[in-house]
Amino acid sequence: MHNLFARPMSRRGLLRASAGFAAVAVAPKPVFAALERDIISLKPAAARAQLVPGQPETSVFAYNGSVPGPEIRVKQGERLRLAVSNRLDQETTVHWHGIRTPNAMDGVPHLTQKPIGPGETFHYEFDVQDAGTFWYHPHHHSMEQVGRGLAGPLIVEEHEPIQVDRDITWLLGDWRLKADASISDDFGNFMDLSHGGRVGNTPTINGRLPGDFRVRSGERIRLRLINGANARIFGLNFEGHDPQIIAIDGHPVEPHRPNSGRVVIAPAQRIDLAIDMGNDPGRTFRVVDDFYPKLAYELVLLSYSGDAPLRSSPLDAGLRLPDNPVAEPDLSSAVRHEVVLGGGMMGMMQGAMMHGEMTDMRTMMRQGMAWAINGVAASGHALDPVFAVKRGQTCVVSVVNQTRWHHPMHLHGHTFRVLSRNGTRTQHREWQDTVLLDPDERVEIAFVADNPGDWMFHCHILEHQASGMMSVIRVA
Ligand code: C2O
Ligand code: CU
Repeated sequence: MHNLFARPMSRRGLLRASAGFAAVAVAPKPVFAALERDIISLKPAAARAQLVPGQPETSVFAYNGSVPGPEIRVKQGERLRLAVSNRLDQETTVHWHGIRTPNAMDGVPHLTQKPIGPGETFHYEFDVQDAGTFWYHPHHHSMEQVGRGLAGPLIVEEHEPIQVDRDITWLLGDWRLKADASISDDFGNFMDLSHGGRVGNTPTINGRLPGDFRVRSGERIRLRLINGANARIFGLNFEGHDPQIIAIDGHPVEPHRPNSGRVVIAPAQRIDLAIDMGNDPGRTFRVVDDFYPKLAYELVLLSYSGDAPLRSSPLDAGLRLPDNPVAEPDLSSAVRHEVVLGGGMMGMMQGAMMHGEMTDMRTMMRQGMAWAINGVAASGHALDPVFAVKRGQTCVVSVVNQTRWHHPMHLHGHTFRVLSRNGTRTQHREWQDTVLLDPDERVEIAFVADNPGDWMFHCHILEHQASGMMSVIRVA
């Protein structure tokens, strides 16, 4: 792993001199404001995008020609109607990540729908129950389709949002580019599959290698972070600022500072921050990503305009968002299940069930498989459930990571509470749809199984998903 176009770390005060990058502003995105009854049209197709200023354009896959796809905005409680017309030369689907849709609208190929063939159109339609920051992406060949650019924000607005001066979305991307800025097409190589996934060399914000993000002294920004990368985990340090986490995976949380000041966001996760721009006009601060210490780089610079401060002391308004209508798990009557993650390099796994047969690790590897859930290496979406839960029942799942790698585990169709980590109760009992497990960590989650159907529970490092780390939970 190395960085190619990412801004190298510079010493404080030498920022401008050392970075050989033009100060390109974080790009605005096209926005679809969904009016009730409107049908939003999404057209995945091959396109070209200027990811790296000063470099040639990159051939990408894009929704409606833009990377990321258009930001879809809707009010909580409204109905979304979307027509997805596939202009790619391969099948696709769209999954509305984190939205609690009916099963048939979940976008999982061969499990909830037939893939959308080239030239075909599929209609998705569902009510949005929860406000918050969500996103959409293909669930078919997602390792390659997301890796080539298919992803977009889906923002559900609260009826009574908190007071901020600006509401900003940063979809974080991560590309593996060659020196001519074209996408390296080594998708699915065994190194990526069996280690940390396809970590790229060019992190972007809203589809562009960022330079500056302009802010004004005194303003309060709601910053919606979405990690749309295949595999890169970000660990963001906002130097000179004190961001408060106000929502995780779309759902409100008691506003709090991130642990040790660093905002860690794994693939597929969303984190909403409230940040007061409390510094003087004209100053510049770094946002440094040092999740992988050897790969630390400056993601973007917060650059204060020369305008007089908007206000003299921080905005005096609350940060607590209104709760979403998610059913509270009843732990006293819960059924309990265990889900064990195994495999990967440097792991203990000897083999797993593959296509119904016990297969040793060496044979698995020859067929591009590296991971298993409860001893089964999944090679497609149409899976037998790892367990079934009665509708309405509270379910507690102990997820046990028996590997040497991180795994952001995502459950479809539901939102769960994160109860504990390695036996220690979590402080905020966060509502999430994707939970990051550290190597050898055990995490307990709980949810009310109130959405009937077969639901994916899988790792959102897309290379892990593609090489076995995928399962189905049945609610019936
Ligand atoms: Cu964001 Cu199963 O996916
Ligand atoms: Cu994983």
